[in-house]
Amino acid sequence: MTIYSRITGVGSFLPGKPVSNDDLVARGIETSDEWITSRTGIRFRHLSEAGLTSSQMAREAALKALEMADVAAAELDLIIVATSTPDYIFPSTACLLQGALGNKGAAAFDVQAVCSGFVHALAIADKFIRSGSHNKALVVGAEVFSRILDWQDRGTCVLFGDGAGAVVLEASAQPGILATALHADGSQASILSVPGQISGGQVSGDPFLRMEGQAVFKAAVRVLVDVARECCAAAGMSPADLDWLIPHQANIRIIEATGKKMGLPKDKVVVTVDRHGNTSAASVPLALDEAVRDGRIQRGQRVLLEGVGGGFTWGAVLFEF
Ligand code: UT7
Repeated sequence: MTIYSRITGVGSFLPGKPVSNDDLVARGIETSDEWITSRTGIRFRHLSEAGLTSSQMAREAALKALEMADVAAAELDLIIVATSTPDYIFPSTACLLQGALGNKGAAAFDVQAVCSGFVHALAIADKFIRSGSHNKALVVGAEVFSRILDWQDRGTCVLFGDGAGAVVLEASAQPGILATALHADGSQASILSVPGQISGGQVSGDPFLRMEGQAVFKAAVRVLVDVARECCAAAGMSPADLDWLIPHQANIRIIEATGKKMGLPKDKVVVTVDRHGNTSAASVPLALDEAVRDGRIQRGQRVLLEGVGGGFTWGAVLFEF
């Protein structure tokens, strides 16, 4: 019998109240609602208060996903957290989450693939479950990108937000995740990075996010279209067979260009970037949670998740819900 991995629960968490573009102007950032909205589609983002960590937000999202799946934390045998803003250098955010959930014994580790971290983590969990070695996985994307932003750099600080999204993935005879595809190109490491290093107990070099916006923009559209087609082909499908596309939420122009090149109508593409900004590894599970809970995504429908980010990394997961 073929073992599939199936998403049985989703959950998410956003910290605090929405922060508008005008709120950023009021905080002294030299920008405007008009510039941010027209270039990116972002109107709001959530920014965590001091002290709130990725593992704490991950816990909130995870509890909702576990409740929907009707799975107790103690039943989990795999916990993967995708994050580039871990609570500590170590232990991993996944281990901190495991402790906070009261689970003992599950394998727990972090995945670092920046904004495509969640699809990487989900693809890994799928392979663990399909192999028969694990049965119930918790996969989370959680980020406090506000902590690695240079608030003097208006070209980046207006783009990002904080949050977490989670799914419970269980072994099932029914599909399930149908195909996954993961890629990276390390020669492009410098176009999106936080190039600081820990040395002598201090960060040496630059501890903030740096981005070559236009290079990232062009590469993002190209790889998101390519990996979506690759993943559909691996499942013996075409993009026209998809019910929903949930791309990484970085910029509405990237999302619309990707949907258009794939020939998908706008109403099949889930968009949250207007209200969440770019929450890196949390963006895809946050959007998935929203579209499941508001009833758009129905059982049996085919959904393609895809991410792209620093590394350069990209990937996709195609599943039947
Ligand atoms: O997870 C992946 C993460 N990253 C992305 O997806 C980002 C991909 N890139 C982008 O979305 C776009 O490149 C940006 C939105 C970041 C920038 O848009 P752009 O059209 O590429 O603008 P630009 O960087 O070429 O800057 C155009 C102008 C510059 O002024 P001058 O030199 O033309 O006078 C910037 O100084 O806009 C200025 N500018 C701003 N003005 C007001 C840059 N940031 C801002 C700002 N407010 N926040």
